[in-house]
Amino acid sequence: MEQLRRLLVVEKRRETPDAITLVLAPEDGQPYSYQPGQYLSVVREINGREKRRAYSFSSCPGIDEYPAITVKRIPNGEFSNWLMEKINPGDVLLTGAPAGRFLLPEKPPRRLVYLAAGSGITPVFSHLKALFSPVPLLAGHMPVTLLYANRDRSHTIFKNNIEHWTAVFPERFRCIWLFTRDKAAPDALHGHLNNALFESLLKHISGGRPFRTGTHFYLCAPNALMRMARMTLRVLDVPETNIHQETFAPDTRLPKRPLDTSKTHRIVVTDRDGERTEFQIYAGETILNGALRQNIRLPYTCKSGVCLSCLARCRSGEVELDFVEQTRREGPGALINTCVGYPVTGEVQLVIE
Ligand SMILES: Cc1cc2nc3c(=O)[nH]c(=O)nc-3n(C[C@H](O)[C@H](O)[C@H](O)COP(=O)(O)OP(=O)(O)OC[C@H]3O[C@@H](n4cnc5c(N)ncnc54)[C@H](O)[C@@H]3O)c2cc1C
Ligand code: FES
Repeated sequence: MEQLRRLLVVEKRRETPDAITLVLAPEDGQPYSYQPGQYLSVVREINGREKRRAYSFSSCPGIDEYPAITVKRIPNGEFSNWLMEKINPGDVLLTGAPAGRFLLPEKPPRRLVYLAAGSGITPVFSHLKALFSPVPLLAGHMPVTLLYANRDRSHTIFKNNIEHWTAVFPERFRCIWLFTRDKAAPDALHGHLNNALFESLLKHISGGRPFRTGTHFYLCAPNALMRMARMTLRVLDVPETNIHQETFAPDTRLPKRPLDTSKTHRIVVTDRDGERTEFQIYAGETILNGALRQNIRLPYTCKSGVCLSCLARCRSGEVELDFVEQTRREGPGALINTCVGYPVTGEVQLVIE
């Protein structure tokens, strides 16, 4: 099932007082494949329990020699403080396979608009590298606007690189800086982004015209800011399919179902190598928890339905997905999150793609 990979830390760079970049090289020397906007999960065992956290690549394949992640310290955060304080060049991180769907569109769109805040810049930065490298990974000369919110200039990750691109590509790239606690910052907006300000910035970006279906929006910011942005975009008739979102902070309010050990469901999982594994889980436990309880290693990171590293395609049977705001029933053909997925039918067959 899941194969973990050991990555050697070859460089540690300080980006701001509370953010670092770790440059990583596969210890096995084999090629490392990922896409701009994806993330890896860092896996640790703490007091006999496995824990994981996701970190987006700030590097870009084909441009940077090695993959890199950028980590911002969260007060009292278990992993972010450990990575910042204890991990140094020469150490090895155990990691899950690159995952995530915060990907550039397959075809060059008419326009790209990004909204990032704090460490939310990380996957966006990987996209920007892909767009502004001498040999861009996405062809075309579409205009790109970044709305980038931070506390102040000194805590703004990748500020110099972004300023460099705005100077080199003035026709194509614009960054609208927003600072909540830096009234002296020139050429910037000050205060918090609300829907009235966001809407007026969007109108400014589009020249007052409605956004056509060719504009893609990428959001990576605190959940409340992304909720506001998504609602504003929907009011402006931007199709759901053109709004891409990466959620960093998993919701802790996930509903839980009562466990019923008198009832079981049969799960059949086929992995990427075609290996088939069958197991039984109890009613009321998620497919992922049922598998992990029996040491069956299905891929996962957040266990909260936001990171998508546990996705599997349903081949037969039906599954209910309990997200924070909704429960969805899915059947054959659908992609399901095993971490929030409860089987409804006696048997469920899944394929990890
Ligand atoms: C797909 C994905 C990509 C991510 N990419 C990055 C990245 O590129 N860089 C990065 O620094 N982080 C990233 N994260 C967040 C990261 O996985 C961790 O959640 C974060 O580092 C905090 O972990 P911790 O163990 O330090 O904190 P914990 O010990 O888990 O939490 C400590 C406290 O902080 C709160 N908290 C947890 N995460 C956040 C957050 N992101 N913002 C605010 N409060 C939080 C918790 O609710 C808790 O109260 C990503 C998360 C996901 C799901
Ligand atoms: S483990 Fe993150 S969505 Fe399931």
